[in-house]
Amino acid sequence: MLSEAGIASRRAAEEMIRQGRVVINGRLAEFGQRIDPAEDRVEVDGRRVQLDPEKRYLMLNKPAGVITTSKDPEGRTTVLDIVGVHDRVFPVGRLDIGTEGLLLLTNDGELTHRLTHPSFEVTKTYVAEVAGTVGKGVLRKLTDTGVDLGGSEPFVADSVKVLGARKGPGGNRTVVQLEVHEGPTHLVRRLLEAVDRPVLRLVRTGMGPLKLGRMASGTYRNLTQGEVDALYREVGL
Ligand code: URA
Repeated sequence: MLSEAGIASRRAAEEMIRQGRVVINGRLAEFGQRIDPAEDRVEVDGRRVQLDPEKRYLMLNKPAGVITTSKDPEGRTTVLDIVGVHDRVFPVGRLDIGTEGLLLLTNDGELTHRLTHPSFEVTKTYVAEVAGTVGKGVLRKLTDTGVDLGGSEPFVADSVKVLGARKGPGGNRTVVQLEVHEGPTHLVRRLLEAVDRPVLRLVRTGMGPLKLGRMASGTYRNLTQGEVDALYREVGL
């Protein structure tokens, strides 16, 4: 199974078992041991590996104008139209219609639950282009004093930094990177609106250990085994 899943060549997998590095359901693996990849927990060097060939993990660079639902009654393009519904994957969380960037799609329900539930505190990274300049006062408000979004406490971002600024014909524009670990609707737009810096463009660039990297808009790819393992580790699976 390890070689089929691309974790190691057949010989290397045998060597790993010989060295006692492979554990199945809490017990050292034996040669020729059969496993049910959907049920059994397999660990290599203490790290869980997902071997279920039925599990799909796709990363899409969502373009603006595409919606993150399975079906749109108005007939607009959905993220599933891009990846093909035959994959039977579902989006992990939502990006607004106008938001671009990293969207994970999977049929792994437990992983989806943990990545989206605020108690697991998975960091999401966004890059936003906003109108105006962003000085120390705005940064302090976003990361220290917090912004009133109608909750019991002011909302505080995990981190915010300025990546660049430019003067355009319509005034100053600033590019900021924000990290947050919660996902109320329109969170980033609302945060920046509240400090009077309306969002002109919003891109999600990271989700926990996953990074968007250089992917053309509207394209998607399978996650690597290493990326899936890193997500599992992130949420304690
Ligand atoms: N915050 C937003 O405002 N929009 C998104 O799509 C995601 C986070």
